[in-house]
Amino acid sequence: AEDHYHQFVIQTATVNRLCKTRNILTVNGQFPGPTIVARDGDSMAIKVTNAGPYNISLHWHGFRMLRNPWADGPSYVTQCPIQPGGSYTYRFTIQNQEGTLWWHAHTGFLRATVYGAFIVYPKLGSYFPFNIPNREYPILLGEWFDRDPMTLFKQTQFTGGAPNTSVAYTINGQPGDLYQCSSQGTIRFQVNAGETILLRIINSGLNQELFFSIANHRMTVVAMDAAYTKPSTTGVLMIGPGQTINVLVTADQPPGRYYMAAHAYQTAMNAAFDNTTTTSILQYNNAPSSRPILPVLPAFNDTATSTAFTSRIRGLSKIQVFQNFDVSLLFTVGLGLINCTNPNSPRCQGPNGTRFAASINNNSFVLPRTTSLMQAYYQGIPGVFTTDFPPVPPIQFNYTGNVPRGLWTPRKGTKLFRVKYGSNIQIVLQDTSIVTIEDHPMHVHGFHFFVVGSGFGNFNPRTDPARFNLVDPPVRNTIGTPPGGWVAIRFKADNPGIWFLHCHIDSHLSWGLATALLVENGVGPLQSVIPPPPDLPQC
Ligand code: C2O
Repeated sequence: AEDHYHQFVIQTATVNRLCKTRNILTVNGQFPGPTIVARDGDSMAIKVTNAGPYNISLHWHGFRMLRNPWADGPSYVTQCPIQPGGSYTYRFTIQNQEGTLWWHAHTGFLRATVYGAFIVYPKLGSYFPFNIPNREYPILLGEWFDRDPMTLFKQTQFTGGAPNTSVAYTINGQPGDLYQCSSQGTIRFQVNAGETILLRIINSGLNQELFFSIANHRMTVVAMDAAYTKPSTTGVLMIGPGQTINVLVTADQPPGRYYMAAHAYQTAMNAAFDNTTTTSILQYNNAPSSRPILPVLPAFNDTATSTAFTSRIRGLSKIQVFQNFDVSLLFTVGLGLINCTNPNSPRCQGPNGTRFAASINNNSFVLPRTTSLMQAYYQGIPGVFTTDFPPVPPIQFNYTGNVPRGLWTPRKGTKLFRVKYGSNIQIVLQDTSIVTIEDHPMHVHGFHFFVVGSGFGNFNPRTDPARFNLVDPPVRNTIGTPPGGWVAIRFKADNPGIWFLHCHIDSHLSWGLATALLVENGVGPLQSVIPPPPDLPQC
């Protein structure tokens, strides 16, 4: 195993996109940020220096961080953010994981421009469970906004309204040929005829699920969220914010130029969204320079195609999913609205003079401001959080969306869910369908989970478990709760500490669609997690 040291300087950089010059926040002036490459078993030290104007922290999305929540990164959850002028070194060892992971800012909406790929190869002497590809490329899908993401975040928090939508999608930071002033920058991926390439696709977009396709080429899915899958061939894939998908593509078409394109998969009813299309080019070497061919992407609201793609995937895990569980939870996830006494107030720009909110089990999560949850827990600071998170929804919902208006208003709180270390947990995530049905890409920090089942309508605890896949379910760290439906996940609570669980749509997260799992072994934090590093930022 090797030791890696990286220096990440958070700094603004000037870039030209869509005919405009903008200053954006970056790591080391790069956009997207640097790709980190390591092997399973390696140790990382990444020194992050904040030379930008905002408080910030970085999250290493999908890394387990066993007994080491201090390296996880979400602001006010496991650490205070790094203040301008400050620095913090994230130290962690990669333990039994490989594949496509990524890193991103975890403060406000800053990950709109502060993100990059993190590729973990198998240990020396171990190999992929498929033939070694001739070459490989990371594909970071992003969203481009015509204003500063932190301004957007503050505006959303202040007005209580929905944030502006993006004005372009990007592939490795570039919108591509179909947008104004973007042809020059269009990303080209070279391939020789007959070769097989591995694409490591990451949806780093802030708020939008995406369909992705390559003209005239089939894709074979071999991994998702850093866990291998049984090979599954498709013409189009759906990827939610936070997710990664590895596909093999064989250059078996007449030598030429083929667009790889992505556009929105939009499940919220009546919501504004960015309906543009980003492209890059799969370019055969020595091919005649012809106009590239565009792939056909599904309709924006094509839930059938999205569901067919996701539910076909089977896992290739060495670990068996457990058949019996100790804890079974129903988490209802969705939006809500908070009524205003003065609906004409500038702070009430949600629908009909309300403010948007979002919740799990009707609790709209509020982050602490004076310390982080993990620091409060470790140091025994009282009054920062409570552990009375309602394990079952306090109200009987009807998830088909026909919910009395009186039940639309979540309660605010910093409520954690306490879990006994070592227990086998099942969580059914159920879309409340309040305000709108919507697919919520739910992410759990510190764990990987088996996705054992999903469906539409209300989860039925008597009949649905009979259809669970307990043989070869896929392993993920982020999974979509189907619009107007549910998804069931299982994992062992084998990682002590405080771990954020949230919707990876940042607008929903900012409205409170989150909680944190407090995993305890009964001997207290001092014995169960490693001590905090001396440079851990203070608030
Ligand atoms: Cu990739 Cu808490 O997020």
